[in-house]
Amino acid sequence: MKVLVTGGLGFIGSHTVVELQNKGFNVVIIDDLSNSSEKVLDGIVAITGVKPAFEKIDLKEKSKVEDFFARHTDVQGVIHFAASKAVGESVEKPLLYYENNIGTLVYLLKELSKKDKASFIFSSSCTVYGQADKMPITEDAPVKTAESPYGNTKQMGEEIIADTCKVVPSLNAIALRYFNPMGAHPSTEIGELPIGVPQNLVPFITQTGIGMREQLSVFGGDYPTSDGTCVRDYIHVVDLAKAHVIALERLLEHKNDANYEVFNLGTGTGSTVLEAIQSFERVSGKKLNYEIVDRRPGDITSAYASTEKANKILGWKAESTLDEAMKSAWEWEQKIRN
Ligand SMILES: NC(=O)c1ccc[n+]([C@@H]2O[C@H](COP(=O)([O-])OP(=O)(O)OC[C@H]3O[C@@H](n4cnc5c(N)ncnc54)[C@H](O)[C@@H]3O)[C@@H](O)[C@H]2O)c1
Repeated sequence: MKVLVTGGLGFIGSHTVVELQNKGFNVVIIDDLSNSSEKVLDGIVAITGVKPAFEKIDLKEKSKVEDFFARHTDVQGVIHFAASKAVGESVEKPLLYYENNIGTLVYLLKELSKKDKASFIFSSSCTVYGQADKMPITEDAPVKTAESPYGNTKQMGEEIIADTCKVVPSLNAIALRYFNPMGAHPSTEIGELPIGVPQNLVPFITQTGIGMREQLSVFGGDYPTSDGTCVRDYIHVVDLAKAHVIALERLLEHKNDANYEVFNLGTGTGSTVLEAIQSFERVSGKKLNYEIVDRRPGDITSAYASTEKANKILGWKAESTLDEAMKSAWEWEQKIRN
């Protein structure tokens, strides 16, 4: 069964390609390498023994997307990771984000709408909830006004898919709202490769641990949480990747209850920034140089997932602990820096 993975050489995409190939799917990757490297293919081959097909295509080029689907009429499922994802950059360059995250989605949905049957998995985010009123966050929590153009592209993306599914019954879609993906494949063949200053906490921690950065700034020590720092739900990228395969199989096997569904993907456990740092110190045996500084505008206090819907309906549960995920992130950091 042929599956297209857009952004399949990126962080979450590459781990998902591994899990798809482990399950026998025939994967074709589209990536424009704007935030990844072709070398990731070697890592995928080292783990699975199979080299996925790869086409270097910029999905913003509509004619290339059309040409791809004309050549690959046997694609039955699409997992769409390709997007720009830096929140700060999205504030500076909103049109880049709307073009790359919305334009490409529209081109893909147009092609899929022409097919007799199509399954589509979309990378959404817990940012759609903003600061939710209740923890843990359930899927029916209200979607709040987005804080950034990036966050807005995820909200709009979900709406575009829902609207399309209403009028295209042959299209079945699932939006997966990720909490905080982290870690690397236990083989250390693939992992997160942030370009420039990491946007996410964990690569910043590991880069500080290895000496690439002098100090980690912890933004805010006076939040109403157990130790005053923000709470997030850190999920191992391999657990996240496995959920994509399960979601895709649900659609391919027609087990879905509606032709558009939404699931949270998190662990259900909230950890503070200081707990994440302590986890790093436990698994690495190193002291981390950090300082608590002022709050950063736009940061919410707390977000962790209710995993009940994904547990019950997808039959999926995150298995790794924060320490296991942190250990994999640290091993990956050591490998790439050596
Ligand atoms: N990592 C997170 O913390 C997180 C959290 C929530 C949601 N997401 C979403 O998950 C998806 C994957 O995230 P990631 O962390 O793996 O990001 P990533 O940057 O590592 O992967 C995205 C991949 O898409 C490719 N790409 C971008 N624009 C493209 C285009 N126009 N044409 C073809 N390829 C293109 C990039 O080169 C990259 O390989 C994104 O949609 C992101 O918004 C990520």
